[in-house]
Amino acid sequence: MAVTQPPDNSTQSNYFKIATEHVVFVWTIDWKEKKIVGSTTHTLRVREDSVKEVVFDTFALDVKGAQVEGKAVPYDLGKHHDVMGSALSLPLPSGLKRGATVTAKVEYETTSGGQALQWLEPEQTQGKQHPYLFSQCQAILARALAPLQDTPSLKITYDAQVSSILPALMSAIRVSPPSAGPPHGGKVIGKDVVTYVYKQPISIPSYLLAIASGNLHYRAFDVPQGKDWTSGVWTEPEMLDQAHWEFKEDTTRNLALEESVIMPYKFGVYDVLVLPPTFPFGGMENACCTFLTPSIIAGDRSLVDVVVHELTHSWFGNGVTYVQLPIIICLYAYFHHIPCSAHSSHYWLNEGWTTYMERVLLSKLHSEAERDFSYLIGSKALKDALKEYEDTPKYQRLIIEMEVGEDPDDAYSSVPYEKGANFLFYLEKVLGGLDVFLPYASDYVKTFMGQSIVTDQWKEHLYNYFKSHGGNDKIKALDTVDWNAWLHGEGLTLPVGMQYDTTLATAVYALAERWDKVRAKDVKELDFKESDVELFSSNQKVLFLDTLQSYSALPLSHVSLLGSLYGLANSGNAEIRFRFYGVALLDPSSASSKHYAPVAAKWVVGEDGTGIIKGRMKFCRPTFKAVYKVDKQLARETFGRKKGGFHPLARKMIEKVRSQYTER
Ligand code: BES
Ligand code: ZN
Repeated sequence: MAVTQPPDNSTQSNYFKIATEHVVFVWTIDWKEKKIVGSTTHTLRVREDSVKEVVFDTFALDVKGAQVEGKAVPYDLGKHHDVMGSALSLPLPSGLKRGATVTAKVEYETTSGGQALQWLEPEQTQGKQHPYLFSQCQAILARALAPLQDTPSLKITYDAQVSSILPALMSAIRVSPPSAGPPHGGKVIGKDVVTYVYKQPISIPSYLLAIASGNLHYRAFDVPQGKDWTSGVWTEPEMLDQAHWEFKEDTTRNLALEESVIMPYKFGVYDVLVLPPTFPFGGMENACCTFLTPSIIAGDRSLVDVVVHELTHSWFGNGVTYVQLPIIICLYAYFHHIPCSAHSSHYWLNEGWTTYMERVLLSKLHSEAERDFSYLIGSKALKDALKEYEDTPKYQRLIIEMEVGEDPDDAYSSVPYEKGANFLFYLEKVLGGLDVFLPYASDYVKTFMGQSIVTDQWKEHLYNYFKSHGGNDKIKALDTVDWNAWLHGEGLTLPVGMQYDTTLATAVYALAERWDKVRAKDVKELDFKESDVELFSSNQKVLFLDTLQSYSALPLSHVSLLGSLYGLANSGNAEIRFRFYGVALLDPSSASSKHYAPVAAKWVVGEDGTGIIKGRMKFCRPTFKAVYKVDKQLARETFGRKKGGFHPLARKMIEKVRSQYTER
């Protein structure tokens, strides 16, 4: 029986037979036609004797030609699959030996059929003068930007030359013109074509490939003495002062702190790019250049934790990367001529570790109580996510078995973040606390730096490390862990009830309870005061609103008072505003929902007078969902009017919500 399936159910490429090691992108941004035109040249290493073809992933790419070893070859573009795209096969010279290298070049153009790129009109930008383009490749969208073996199991280095009339950024180190020099190399922005040259000498998985182009300006951060990396912020000039202020204190200090805990930062550049509000995530850890939503620029640095998260990925994710499946199992299957069917995603290694470490850093920066407080906030997100997956319990697991062509976006939730972080937090406690766990975390990263691994490799290293650092006692402690429940368990709770320090939550819970108790009273009799929340941090307000959501719905009169008295209903902090609407729309049939559904709908699409869309999926998806539950027509009309303003990915996910509520 021939093995036709690749060892990762989200790729059609044959990277296990021949694998890309290096890529050269030569691209021109065609702003008029909204496409990237150019070529991708792979240097590949043969992994299996006599491999006959190389297969790349593509998604809605318009392929113009292909060459192998400099000679034109006929190519085959397979049938389009809605999630995986089309396999692009190029024939290889016969008799290739394992270990040999081959070059393969593909000429192509991107099309509007893919979801990796968003092209913005000038009106959608801060400056309103120039268009804007940015990519988002995780989980499996890089293939809509370039023909690639698009799997996290493989790491590649790259060089890029991007020609554009607007400054262009990539997830790599700028070679020329210099970042800190005059914008656009001193040429006229929006008119003169400048070729931006980048190199990425460290191997990265394809999902970290990124490009952005627009009227982007740079300002450096001060870097602690003796560092061999630079750091700074990119954004449109209108935002540069604000963005620089928001991140200048924390970014380099936190990067240096993480270096001291784990190991030196090795990517040379750690920049952040503050994008327009349609960016569908809070942050994305693209190599050398974290992409950020502008909604975290709160003006008071209250949301900079997102950057702590993204910079932590430099070690946990960008350094040590998760695998979509155990290669060993697939090679076994391959050699025994059986189809490889065990396709598990070990994504939790990325997000669980990152969330765990992000919170360790918080405890070092602030207090131990602050760390536990983050877990308290996270437990609401976890509870909601587990509940959401009641009908698809496999997504409640840490290790998820993926079917061929299954959309990784459907599996995306807080589970790998929160269950994963709690698992590590639990192990830390089992093994004796931070003093023993952090040296272990550092050893873990140093051991697997540059590799893509599976959970079994992580676990084996954990055991080995503690065998030689503590011996029998530690091994005994590890043996008490219910590995199966943590890694493969389903259900609505964690395998172990976690105890968190509630110092910072006590006042929050007390206030929430006071509101809960007076729901039957007339609003005029309530004795709440503005000063109730005077001493609350933004995160405490977040937990306060989350706690109210865990009770039954409050009457409209109370919700209105809550919103106005505490300034929640018009908060500029999206984390707070979003949760206020969560409280207001808790019971879809209530008067409060009737009143607030149109308000929430307007907020999310920017029809609230700000013109700012809440493109971050964390906010727009649940808000639309809540509005759908209250008033289908309102939700449908609002989305219909504004959907062009959303990122293609957010559009896809909101459309899924819509079909949930209209097809029933
Ligand atoms: N890598 C993720 C974003 C992502 C995940 C994009 C999967 C596409 C597919 C990033 O590091 C992340 O976790 N972002 C969070 C930030 C938060 C946890 C601080 C987000 O965007 O909400
Ligand atoms: Zn993350």
